[in-house]
Amino acid sequence: MSKHSLACEITGVWTQYGSTVIHRDLNLAVRTGEVMALVGGSGSGKTTLLRHIVGLTTPSRGEINLFGVNLAKLDREGARLARNRFGMLFQQGALFSALTVYDNIAFPLRELRQFDEESIHLLVMHKLALVELEPKHAWLLPAQLSGGMVKRVALARALALEPELLVLDEPTAGLDPDRSEKFVHLINNLKKQLGLTVVFVTHDLDTLVGMTDRVAVLADQHIIAACTLSELAHVDHPFAQNFFKGVHERLDRTDKWKTAPTH
Ligand SMILES: Nc1ncnc2c1ncn2[C@@H]1O[C@H](COP(=O)(O)OP(=O)(O)OP(=O)(O)O)[C@@H](O)[C@H]1O
Ligand SMILES: [Mg+2]
Repeated sequence: MSKHSLACEITGVWTQYGSTVIHRDLNLAVRTGEVMALVGGSGSGKTTLLRHIVGLTTPSRGEINLFGVNLAKLDREGARLARNRFGMLFQQGALFSALTVYDNIAFPLRELRQFDEESIHLLVMHKLALVELEPKHAWLLPAQLSGGMVKRVALARALALEPELLVLDEPTAGLDPDRSEKFVHLINNLKKQLGLTVVFVTHDLDTLVGMTDRVAVLADQHIIAACTLSELAHVDHPFAQNFFKGVHERLDRTDKWKTAPTH
């Protein structure tokens, strides 16, 4: 496998807070162009792992390579350029409450100091359309949005710099089933249009079944399996077995078995 076939490669990662070990020799490889779900119990360290991936935090030990580059070894300018290659949607949406939708989406673009306001306007409006919001929504404040709209604005902001890797923490949590389904369609379309690699955390089985190529299971402080949903059946671990039971019921209903993409 050439190094470019991996969007993200996590090797021997340990995370420790005081005497508590969150990740113990954790390994995971995400292929370019795949949608990978990260599942695990509450508090198992999923959000912490996503934060490591996008470079917001650094593991106590181990290495994380994004498209063959170790962010921790880059200088400031190198890291800034590398960070433009991915977007993150946080568990809480995390919009700036004092900024309009427009200014929220424009934020990462302005930070780059590379675009004039006219270009920014075009880019913001394009991203708004991409997440199926109307131009008039640009002038609203986060408090004036519904939960589903907040998620879409956060997604538009994550997409602002046209990332190759999108990291989503519970993108459909708190949305009604209809909205969740629309969100899943949106991600699937974006994946098709932009060829994105997506790593996402979810507790929602419909979201999982709707958009996953492979699933990584975080249990006992490391990734115990990274496989297709159907292959979960053969993973000999209580969390995986339990999880598979839920997925299987969903798959029976929706008939959406997915196989891993070939590379
Ligand atoms: N900065 C920190 N300092 C100390 N402990 C932390 C810190 N960040 C996370 N933790 C701990 O690490 C563990 C994993 O947290 P994390 O948020 O990654 O879990 P999670 O798998 O995302 O859970 P959930 O499904 O509930 O969102 C928790 O016990 C948390 O308290
Ligand atoms: Mg979390």
